[in-house]
Amino acid sequence: MKAVAYSIKPFEKEFLAKANQKKHDITLISNPLNIETAIYAEGKDAIIVFTNDDVSASVIDKLAELGIRYIVTRSVGTDHIDKDTAAKYAIKLSNVPSYSPQAIAEHAVALAMALNRKLIKADHNSHLFDFRNDGLIGFNFSGKTVGIIGLGKTGMATAEIFKGFGCKVIGYDEFLPAGDDNILRAELDDLLASSDIISLHIPLTPDTRHFIKKATLDKMKNGVMLINTSRGAIIKTSDLLLALESGKIGNLAMDVYEYEKGLFFEDHQHDIYKDPLIRNLLARENVIITPHQAYLTREALQEIANQTIYNLDMWQQDKCVGKACVCAKNCRAVQLK
Ligand code: NAI
Repeated sequence: MKAVAYSIKPFEKEFLAKANQKKHDITLISNPLNIETAIYAEGKDAIIVFTNDDVSASVIDKLAELGIRYIVTRSVGTDHIDKDTAAKYAIKLSNVPSYSPQAIAEHAVALAMALNRKLIKADHNSHLFDFRNDGLIGFNFSGKTVGIIGLGKTGMATAEIFKGFGCKVIGYDEFLPAGDDNILRAELDDLLASSDIISLHIPLTPDTRHFIKKATLDKMKNGVMLINTSRGAIIKTSDLLLALESGKIGNLAMDVYEYEKGLFFEDHQHDIYKDPLIRNLLARENVIITPHQAYLTREALQEIANQTIYNLDMWQQDKCVGKACVCAKNCRAVQLK
C-alpha cells in the first residue's frame, strides 16, 4: 500500500521502520496535514495522521479528490477526524484503540506528584545552589480521595496506581456499569464534591466538550487538584482560569490544552504573538503543563507503530481492522457478518 504519514517526529521513524519491514511504501513528512499539505497525498492509497492534524470536512473533500481510500490515526482519540465526511466518500478510518494505557496513567500520576511536591521549582532552585525548603510544602496522597472520570483503559490504569499510594479511589463512567474492577462507583456530583484529586479520562465528543466548566467546577472541593491527560477541550479554559484565580482549583496538571492545535509539538519560543490563555496558566506556580506527551514511552511508540502497520496490512488484504475500526457507518459490523 502507498501511504503518506503526516506530522512525523524524528523519534517516530525507527519505530515505524521496525513495524513496517518495508511492506508498505510510506512517505514520512514532518508537516501537519491541512488544506495546503493535503496535496502530498496525491498518488497514495492511505494517509497516516496524528491528533493535531486537520482532518476536517474540507481537507477530506480534497483527500477524496486525490483518491485517498484509507485514513489511520496514530492515536486512541479520533475527535480530529470528520467521520461523517469520510463516510460520504467511503473512506475507511482506523485508530490505535489501545497501545499502553499505563504510559498515560504513569504520566498523569507523574504530573500530580511533580506538582504536589514542587519538584520543578525544587530542582530549579537546586541548580541555582538554593537549597532552602521554603515554598516546597506538598501534601500526602495517602488517605486522599481520588475521583476518576472515565473508567476505560487509561482511567483504570490511573486508578490502580493511586490505589497503590493508599488513596481512596472512586470512579464515574456514564456508560460502564459497576463490574468486578474494585473501583467504587459514584454519581458525578458526589465525585466532584468529595474528591481531593480529580483525573479526567474521557474521550472528546460533542457531549464531553466543556464537560468541566463553571457549573462542574463550582461543585468541586475548594483547593482540588485537577489532572487532564485526555483532551484539552474537555475543560473550558476560560472557566478554569477563574477557578484558579478564586482558589477553587488548588493545583492543575495538564498534558493537553483546548487550543493546542498549531501550538503543541512545535517550537514557538520565538513567536511574537503568544496565546494569552496558556501564558496566564504558565505564569502560575500551581500549574504544570506538558505538551501532549503522556503517550511518549518507547513501549507505547512501538505499539502505535505496530498497530498502524497492522491496519494497513488488513486493508491491503481487504479485511476489517477489527477493534481499530472507527468509521462512522459501522463498516466493522457489516464486514464481520
Ligand atoms: P477508553 O475508551 O478505554 O475509555 C474512555 C471511557 O470514558 C469509557 O469507559 C467511556 O464509557 C467513558 N466515557 C465516555 N463518555 C463519557 C461521559 N460523558 N461521562 C463519563 N464517562 C464517559 O479510552 P482510554 O484509552 O482510556 O483513553 C481516554 C482518552 O484519553 C482518549 O479518548 C484520548 O482522547 C485520551 N488520550 C490521551 C493521550 C495523551 O497522550 N495525552 C494518549 C491516549 C489517550
